[in-house]
Amino acid sequence: MKVSIIGLGYVGITTAAGLSEIGHEVIGYDIDKDRVKLLQDGKSPIYEPGLDELLRKNISEKRLTFTTSPEKAITHGDIIFICTGTPSREDGSADLTQVEGAAKTVARYINGFKLIVEKSTVPVKTAQWIERTMKLYLKKHIDFEVASNPEFLKEGDAINDFLKPDRIVIGVNSKRAEKMLRRLYKPIRSPIVVTDINTAEIIKHASNAFLAMKISFINMISDLCEATGADIELVAKAMGMDKRIGKQFLRAGVGYGGSCFPKDVKALYWVGKQYGLNFELLKNVHEINESRIDVLMKHLKNALWNLKDKSIAIWGLSFKPNTDDIREAPSIKVIKRILREGGRVTLYDPKAMENMRKIFPEGEAVKYAKDKYEAVKDAEALVILTEWDEFKDADLDKVKNAMLTPIIVDGRNIYRPRKVKRLGFEYYPMGRPS
Ligand code: UGA
Repeated sequence: MKVSIIGLGYVGITTAAGLSEIGHEVIGYDIDKDRVKLLQDGKSPIYEPGLDELLRKNISEKRLTFTTSPEKAITHGDIIFICTGTPSREDGSADLTQVEGAAKTVARYINGFKLIVEKSTVPVKTAQWIERTMKLYLKKHIDFEVASNPEFLKEGDAINDFLKPDRIVIGVNSKRAEKMLRRLYKPIRSPIVVTDINTAEIIKHASNAFLAMKISFINMISDLCEATGADIELVAKAMGMDKRIGKQFLRAGVGYGGSCFPKDVKALYWVGKQYGLNFELLKNVHEINESRIDVLMKHLKNALWNLKDKSIAIWGLSFKPNTDDIREAPSIKVIKRILREGGRVTLYDPKAMENMRKIFPEGEAVKYAKDKYEAVKDAEALVILTEWDEFKDADLDKVKNAMLTPIIVDGRNIYRPRKVKRLGFEYYPMGRPS
């Protein structure tokens, strides 16, 4: 099938690569010339394991192209995916101007029947706005339909999530749209859930908010463990053995970040408010998440007394492992707090340092290390904020010898407390006896 993708951010690129991989002819469109140029050369502007290979393969097999021409993009596809960003506004609601812009672009260049599919995470009823925008801006009568097909990709594992999803959700108004989307996903053997459009939009928002709630719940219990000397890792393990609860997303620590959970929790709270509903639960989810930074900073100060002129190493800048994405990463908040209190930081991350340099340029108080061992040289504490495998496998003897004072504040609970203490560290995990 012929498919066009509008918006080449994280979702757009992965969708373009994934759909071409399962045999469709895909054109990706974005206004950003540099981004499109990179993609034309088979290079992803974001780090995602396996993505570059998939791009190169499908470009060379001529199923995948990228363009800055809206006309070329819109006239190509029978199915047009809207994958533009939906960032948070000041009040927490989703800013849908890019989605509106995409709808206007489709209206301008549409040359025959198109199925316009929203893939970006959007508040319920956005499809109705897309349809209205299309009708308002169409120059002559051309048939089109709108559908919702939310994405459930996790950064770091996006290709696998695309090709082997737990489910595919299709929100449609007609059999025609359903048939087109079923045909599109035929090569993927996953259950397909067909709903009306409002329901599909809510499924996405509710799924993300629920996962965020699970994380905040376990973090709330983590604080209780900390207050009472109990161990959150064992609590989470035993809770997760109950199949009704499930073991995933029960990892306590410094909280969730990224471009999805913080934004979607706020946006869904805002949607509930619009309908006069009590969605305070989501406000609490957000507040508990914000408080994680306070808990981590409390540990750091308990260890160092005060931070003035102290040298602190930070391992892990991305919001989670296997990505270079630092959007809403806990590391940004932690670094700001340390600097505000007069401390100095040496930062290391396997993939995210380039992005972080744009927020914290190298200077007196901020240094970047070439590897994890250089980062801890003469440090008075090591703070771990992302659970990259290379940190789990670090030679802790080497770390201890390089540090000025052997203190580890672990925001992701990656070590066994007894083992690190045996090696001579003072160890401050989250929600575990230290
Ligand atoms: C999330 C969802 O998991 C995807 O299903 C969804 O498609 C995506 O948002 C989206 O809406 O685009 P993502 O943000 O890539 O995916 O990452 P997650 O793996 O969900 O992690 C989010 C944050 O939660 C990370 O900061 C992670 O460290 C944190 N987390 C996760 C925890 O603190 N504890 C956990 O147990 C799990």
